[in-house]
Amino acid sequence: MVLALAAALIALDPARAMQQAPPRVRVHDCTSGGCHADVTGFEFLHGPVAVGACETCHAYADEAAHRFILKRSGAEMCSFCHIGPAAEAGLMVVHEPVQKGECLACHNPHGSVSRLMLRGATSGEICLSCHPAVSQGRAHVHTPVGRGECTSCHQAHASSHADLLVAPQRELCLRCHAQVLATAAAPAAGEGLVPMLHAPILEGCSGCHDAHASDHAGILLQAPGELCASCHQPIAQAAAAAAVSHSAVTGERACLNCHAPHHSPVANLLRGEPTATCMACHGRDVQRADGTVVAGLTELAHATFRHGPVAEGRCDACHQVHGGSHRALLTQPYSGAFYQAFDPESYALCFQCHDSQLALESHTTTATRFRNGDLNLHRVHVTDPRLGRNCRVCHATHAGESAALMRRDVLFGQWRIPIDFEPTETGGACAAGCHRGRRYDRETPVPPPPPVGQAGGPGAAAP
Ligand code: HEC
Ligand code: HEC
Ligand code: HEC
Ligand code: HEC
Ligand code: HEC
Ligand code: HEC
Ligand code: HEC
Ligand code: HEC
Ligand code: HEC
Ligand code: HEC
Ligand code: HEC
Ligand code: HEC
Ligand code: HEC
Repeated sequence: MVLALAAALIALDPARAMQQAPPRVRVHDCTSGGCHADVTGFEFLHGPVAVGACETCHAYADEAAHRFILKRSGAEMCSFCHIGPAAEAGLMVVHEPVQKGECLACHNPHGSVSRLMLRGATSGEICLSCHPAVSQGRAHVHTPVGRGECTSCHQAHASSHADLLVAPQRELCLRCHAQVLATAAAPAAGEGLVPMLHAPILEGCSGCHDAHASDHAGILLQAPGELCASCHQPIAQAAAAAAVSHSAVTGERACLNCHAPHHSPVANLLRGEPTATCMACHGRDVQRADGTVVAGLTELAHATFRHGPVAEGRCDACHQVHGGSHRALLTQPYSGAFYQAFDPESYALCFQCHDSQLALESHTTTATRFRNGDLNLHRVHVTDPRLGRNCRVCHATHAGESAALMRRDVLFGQWRIPIDFEPTETGGACAAGCHRGRRYDRETPVPPPPPVGQAGGPGAAAP
């Protein structure tokens, strides 16, 4: 072949051609006379074409009629000079057109806009001519696919990996997306935080992503809710069937509102520190489907006193975040009324962690600090058969400005009744509101005030 090319080069040198033979009417090469200029009109020319060695592939069938035949056909046309693709044919997966010797389906034998003499401007243009379904009509196309860079992931001829991939699939994806694992290796962000990697990542990426394109953002195989549900059926089913549902779980981004898909520095694969995950929405008012408002937990940002589990970021200690059967997604019943006829069930949520004796024993020196001497003032307020005050009348649920989570005031109809609790070493005092200002003392009981002449308002029947 080298000899043939050398001969062709000599034949092309115009000076030498002049010396050796007088000019003829029919030029020796096939393009200099303006004929077949299109064959050499490429930015990149195929080696033999560049040196005018047309005869390496073409031969006269009939010189007079200027008819040609190709000297060889199929893969042999190329393997005459190129051994590479033939050797690749021994690999595990061989691309069907290569197997069939259809080199010309992708390559132009003469030249091209690229060095690789492809029939398109990019490999993608060629590939898509036979594989249009890969991305056609999809709303979200993987960037390298959209750019036609099929060969960044696929071998064009043959490969030792399934699907003609250039590397095993997971490794392939991680070549460009190392960050999907990078932070998972980082140390935990704080005490008690467990960094975790989502188990399916170890298997690969194809359990959740299409490599090419999809109708779902993030080139996901399904909408987020359905995708997660495909492996986490119990939670997804419970969420969908819950009497009290949480739109954060059932809405468009579904599980992704709170969970990271790949890894997290926080247990349960949460997107961030637990409180922050919820406060991303509940830092401000949000609306229910019926238009009513769920007030934002603005008090959390500045509160001096946080309820034990709130301080620990355990919103899930009281809320069934995926959906539940009690109002406000509570894990246990808890009355929402202002006045509540006493029944421990009405406060089941609180008594799951606090001893119900704090409200039941009439005389105690241990069950509660809210007592005057040994008179249990919780019992006095809470168990009144007609006008038992709900815990929330006095206590803030999540966080507050006063000791013992006492509220500054409480809304009664349209009136904000002041409470203004002031603790002392051995007791405390509250403002006039529900009743005249009162004090209690565990060590030196405060005597009861003279009876009030008239009952009325929220303080009715209060001690
Ligand atoms: C590596 C082999 C090879 C070389 C070298 C080659 N050709 Fe071709 N040529 C082909 C093949 C194969 C075809 C068949 C058409 C096709 O599939 O593109 C072809 C087709 C043609 C055609 C038909 C019209 C067309 O463009 O498809 C012309 C004319 C032509 N070649 C001229 C030339 C000339 C002139 C040279 C030298 C400058 C040359 N060829 C060098 C392989 C070659
Ligand atoms: C007569 C020998 C010969 C034949 C036949 C031949 N080629 Fe080539 N091909 C060459 C030479 C010489 C080069 C230039 C090599 C270089 O620049 O390193 C080349 C370069 C190429 C390149 C670019 C490779 C690169 O790495 O830059 C491709 C692609 C190619 N040929 C494909 C084909 C195909 C497809 C066929 C069959 C239709 C074919 N060749 C037939 C000699 C041939
Ligand atoms: C499905 C399209 C397709 C077919 C069919 C095909 N090629 Fe290629 N070929 C390509 C692409 C695309 C590249 C560039 C690969 C890259 O960029 O990694 C390439 C690169 C090449 C190269 C240069 C790089 C190398 O691998 O040596 C040669 C030579 C070559 N092909 C020859 C052939 C021959 C010979 C055949 C037939 C046996 C053939 N090709 C069939 C698409 C094809
Ligand atoms: C001339 C038509 C044609 C072109 C051009 C073509 N292919 Fe193919 N390809 C086929 C056929 C036929 C098959 C085998 C049937 C099938 O799987 O669809 C195939 C199969 C494949 C497969 C599956 C291989 C396997 O066995 O798992 C991949 C991946 C592929 N092609 C990628 C590409 C890429 C990348 C390009 C561009 C570089 C390309 N194809 C260009 C015709 C083509
Ligand atoms: C980011 C890497 C990547 C890019 C870029 C890519 N593919 Fe793929 N392709 C894959 C993977 C991975 C598979 C294996 C099957 C799967 O997971 O969908 C595959 C499978 C295929 C298959 C066989 C199975 C099927 O889906 O029909 C074809 C054909 C194919 N790709 C064609 C293409 C074409 C054409 C392009 C360029 C437009 C392209 N690919 C670009 C990664 C890629
Ligand atoms: C050649 C580099 C390359 C490879 C290999 C690659 N990607 Fe990508 N991928 C990109 C680029 C570039 C983007 C867009 C820029 C970005 O968001 O980082 C992207 C974006 C993505 C996105 C975000 C899409 C969106 O719309 O939000 C996902 C998901 C993705 N790739 C998954 C994969 C998977 C799965 C694989 C393995 C099959 C893979 N990638 C292989 C380059 C690559
Ligand atoms: C369990 C399902 C699942 C698996 C397995 C998975 N992903 Fe994802 N991935 C997702 C989801 C869901 C998103 C969308 C996140 C969002 O929108 O907040 C995503 C987003 C992405 C993005 C967009 C940018 C980002 O980081 O959020 C890239 C890139 C990505 N994935 C790459 C990968 C790679 C690479 C693998 C394999 C190593 C992989 N994914 C495995 C579910 C998965
Ligand atoms: C291909 C199956 C698969 C898909 C899809 C999948 N997961 Fe998982 N997920 C698992 C497996 C396996 C585990 C580990 C075993 C377990 O704890 O159930 C796991 C664990 C988890 C955990 C952590 C449980 C723990 O131990 O703390 C959470 C949270 C989670 N997945 C959420 C999601 C979310 C959100 C999605 C959707 C983006 C999703 N998963 C999609 C298979 C999957
Ligand atoms: C509103 C935020 C939020 C949304 C939305 C959410 N989760 Fe969770 N998820 C959590 C919290 C907080 C935990 C840890 C406490 C717990 O288990 O209740 C958790 C725990 C988990 C666990 C591990 C513990 C277990 O019970 O197995 C899995 C698995 C899980 N979620 C899957 C899902 C799936 C699937 C979805 C979508 C259908 C989803 N989550 C939607 C907040 C959420
Ligand atoms: C994507 C925004 C979003 C996130 C994140 C979110 N929520 Fe919600 N949440 C809502 C919306 C909107 C409602 C209103 C009711 C509905 O639409 O389901 C709601 C309702 C609630 C309710 C019921 C209020 C009532 O009185 O009915 C509670 C309790 C709640 N969320 C707790 C949480 C907790 C705990 C977390 C964190 C694990 C959390 N939410 C994360 C959007 C969110
Ligand atoms: C000690 C139990 C408990 C903990 C812990 C808790 N909540 Fe609540 N949450 C409640 C109760 C009870 C309600 C019902 C309103 C009421 O009665 O005060 C409620 C109501 C809500 C509401 C509805 C707001 C409203 O005013 O109706 C949201 C939103 C909420 N909680 C989010 C959270 C978030 C976020 C966390 C974690 C930072 C959390 N909760 C921790 C008990 C708790
Ligand atoms: C998941 C367990 C849990 C639940 C449920 C719970 N609490 Fe608490 N509560 C705690 C913890 C822990 C503390 C902090 C104890 C400490 O600091 O000694 C606390 C502290 C308090 C305090 C402040 C005590 C002080 O002296 O500062 C009050 C008041 C209180 N809870 C009332 C309630 C009410 C009312 C309910 C029901 C709505 C409730 N708790 C439900 C765990 C819980
Ligand atoms: C009339 C207002 C009021 C009502 C109603 C009320 N508390 Fe209290 N509670 C207090 C005061 C005041 C303290 C602080 C006692 C101290 O430290 O001096 C307190 C303290 C507590 C404490 C800290 C431990 C203790 O007993 O000293 C808990 C826990 C508690 N309350 C739970 C509840 C629960 C549960 C309910 C509803 C069943 C409830 N409270 C109803 C006023 C009230």
